[in-house]
Amino acid sequence: DTKQYSNILTSTPEAGVGLITLNRPKALNALSSPLFAELNEALADFDADDSIGAIVLTGSDRAFAAGADIKEMKDKKFSDVYKNRFLENWTTMTHLRKPLIAAVSGYALGGGCELALMCDIILASPTAVFGQPEINLGIIPGGGGSQRLARAIGKSRTMEMVLTGRNVTAQEADKWGMVSKIVGEGEGVVVKEAVDLAKNIASKGQIAVQAGKEVVNAAYELTLAEGLRFERRLFHALFATKDQKEGMAAFVEKRKANFSNL
Ligand code: HXC
Repeated sequence: DTKQYSNILTSTPEAGVGLITLNRPKALNALSSPLFAELNEALADFDADDSIGAIVLTGSDRAFAAGADIKEMKDKKFSDVYKNRFLENWTTMTHLRKPLIAAVSGYALGGGCELALMCDIILASPTAVFGQPEINLGIIPGGGGSQRLARAIGKSRTMEMVLTGRNVTAQEADKWGMVSKIVGEGEGVVVKEAVDLAKNIASKGQIAVQAGKEVVNAAYELTLAEGLRFERRLFHALFATKDQKEGMAAFVEKRKANFSNL
């Protein structure tokens, strides 16, 4: 019952893992409105599917995504983008419950960099290139890049990226803490590693995983006191789950936990 899309591919490479591959090779996966609508639909489907525990988002070896579609944006006027709420649907994915892992190879520029930053974990291939080149087009980042980069890598580096449009290598992005790691060389390696990571996460109790994602994300929105309180409340709530009873019983009985996601 796999849906047929025009701009993306979806699959389940391992039990519990949903994989979405951006697939506009001729445009280096430029994020057109039709592509983004399909992406949101596929993400919503995986998020709603009880058999899926984590999702991987990737592009091609050459490009994760080279940005929003410049040809589509070129002739738009203020009245068009304002009235039609251009890019408002880009934030939909930040409300997903399930962990989303970006497997980035090649160009992640402009909206492509911002798309990676909206994911929960970024794995980079040694060939990955990140950048916010919007300044060269007479605009600024519009998909959250200025805000998420500032939080991820600090003000000075973000200012340099946003104001000069300079691309940064995977090695710089790793040193700056923008990605969780650089994987080994080779085509498809980053996707394989991301799928393995997603499979690992999918093997845990899903309620705890989703609560873990929720509390970490709260660190970006709340004061420390509010965040600590929110964490403790959700921590308390997990004692109402069967998975907590199972997880702790399994430890004491020296066996592997068998989570039921209840
Ligand atoms: C539309 C794009 C595109 C884009 C590449 N292409 N990026 N089309 N929108 N963002 C198309 C090219 O026009 C070309 O198609 C084909 O993909 C291959 O690209 P080339 O430029 O020929 O490849 P190459 O010489 O290898 O250069 C790769 C590149 C370059 C360095 C990534 O394509 C590039 O600079 N792209 C634009 C990067 C960018 O400025 N991104 C930010 C976009 S603004 P044709 O048919 O012409 O051969 C943005 C705003 C975000 O993202 C706001 C909020 C979301």
